[in-house]
Amino acid sequence: MEAVPDLSRMRRDYETRGLREDDLAPTWVEQFDRWFADAVAAELPEPNAVVVATADADGAPDARIVLLKGYDEAGFVFVTSYASTKGAQLAVNPRAALVFPWHALQRQVRVTGRVERVGDAASDDLWDPRPRGAQLAAAASIQSTTVDSREELVERLRRLDAETGGEKLPRPAIWGGYRVVPDSVEFWQGGTDRLHDRLRFVRDDEEGGGWVVQRLAP
Ligand SMILES: Cc1cc2nc3c(=O)[nH]c(=O)nc-3n(C[C@H](O)[C@H](O)[C@H](O)COP(=O)(O)O)c2cc1C
Repeated sequence: MEAVPDLSRMRRDYETRGLREDDLAPTWVEQFDRWFADAVAAELPEPNAVVVATADADGAPDARIVLLKGYDEAGFVFVTSYASTKGAQLAVNPRAALVFPWHALQRQVRVTGRVERVGDAASDDLWDPRPRGAQLAAAASIQSTTVDSREELVERLRRLDAETGGEKLPRPAIWGGYRVVPDSVEFWQGGTDRLHDRLRFVRDDEEGGGWVVQRLAP
């Protein structure tokens, strides 16, 4: 057996320009735009992979990765099965947190907010361009349920493929998009001497739907 790696030595020195108030875009979505463009330009593997944390009715936390399908001032959109574990959690507790872990840039973005379904038309638009293989897999598997074997899934998929051969697969009613409507978006940038920068946009209802920016201690 290989020796357990010494995790205490797995650290790095962060040396970047940091993130100062003067550098920050006026809105969280413009700031996210800039950093997302940087993540793409840096050729990070799957820059749109994001950790989504949810909690069940008892408050027990849970988290998993999904792929971000879009974002704008209204929020961050991902697609999944409404019948999955996360779907059940969001049905009773429609709040989530997101983390974009952009290690290579010494950055993370954290989001908290309420969650809503995007609606049928928007879900159709997200379903239609998916390759048939991905549509078949989504339609044949009821996400997060237990299955007896992999073969059972393969067989279901094969049967669905044969039954619908060549035809366009309609979007299953349980598949669709969620939007995380942020009430806070934090931009974290690793800095020299570990004095990292944390700037957070927070929705401020007192300000009539406006946002305030806070600096947080690292
Ligand atoms: C890189 C990556 C991308 C993923 N993208 C999605 C996605 O967009 N939608 C999705 O439902 N699951 C996605 N998954 C699978 C989820 O992590 C998870 O296994 C699944 O959604 C079931 O989660 P749940 O049981 O908590 O509902 C992805 C996993 C990885 C590793």
